[in-house]
Amino acid sequence: MGNLSIMDVRLSVIDHRLHGVKRVIAVASGKGGVGKSLMASSFALNLSNKGYKVGLLDLDLYGPSSHIILGVNDFSFPEEEKGILPHEISGIKFMSIVYFSQDKPAPLRGNDITNAIIELLAITQWGNLDYIIIDMPPGIGDETLDVIHLIKKSEFVVVTTPSKVALGAVDKLLNILKELKLPVLGIIENMKINESKLIFDYVKEKNFKFLGSVSFDRNLEDAIGFTNKLLNTSFMKDFQKVVEKIT
Ligand SMILES: Nc1ncnc2c1ncn2[C@@H]1O[C@H](COP(=O)(O)OP(=O)(O)O)[C@@H](O)[C@H]1O
Ligand SMILES: [Mg+2]
Repeated sequence: MGNLSIMDVRLSVIDHRLHGVKRVIAVASGKGGVGKSLMASSFALNLSNKGYKVGLLDLDLYGPSSHIILGVNDFSFPEEEKGILPHEISGIKFMSIVYFSQDKPAPLRGNDITNAIIELLAITQWGNLDYIIIDMPPGIGDETLDVIHLIKKSEFVVVTTPSKVALGAVDKLLNILKELKLPVLGIIENMKINESKLIFDYVKEKNFKFLGSVSFDRNLEDAIGFTNKLLNTSFMKDFQKVVEKIT
């Protein structure tokens, strides 16, 4: 993990900040563009709608997008004297790396990424929550490993599309999670367009849990940015069944 100093006092604060949170579920994938952000936001919305107290944390530094999916338009930096209080969007406590990166023309790099993640985790006051859903960075680079190391109570949901290419990358991530003995709740197959058994067979062979398939929804785009529309998509209908298996 970067050049982190073990003495960094912010590290000891992170556990404390997540103390009142019952479960932390990270939506991850070895690959970008498979639907992590959409699923993380939809997951939070679905749970919030059921009456759970939910937080959503977007840590995708390369393409933060939860704010677009939820239709966030208040980009004022959430401030408070002792840490920061997340804005509330459709009942969800929302925090994003976008608040740290929005003014910067170039993407954050290397230690700046690690520092931004630590800073964000150390200052956000989540309070008491049933769930925090994390929209993870893509791939298995340093920032993914940072998050894995910094948020010790994370459980992982891994998203893939029915593609050998996506599966190749996802397989790498799953091997890392397995090696680190981290809890993998299961695998979601997203953007299903035919009856391919590629993912289902892989999941069975590797002894993971298959959480279900979500079909490609050609009307989804119209719902992006509108939480009430998103809740009524056929995407959400499929995804709801996945949520029931995890919660
Ligand atoms: N099941 C689906 N049907 C149709 N479009 C989808 C589906 N899942 C995701 N998308 C779309 O695919 C694009 C990539 O999804 P996104 O959540 O941003 O992926 P990631 O976060 O993994 O990069 C987005 O435009 C999203 O709306
Ligand atoms: Mg994303």
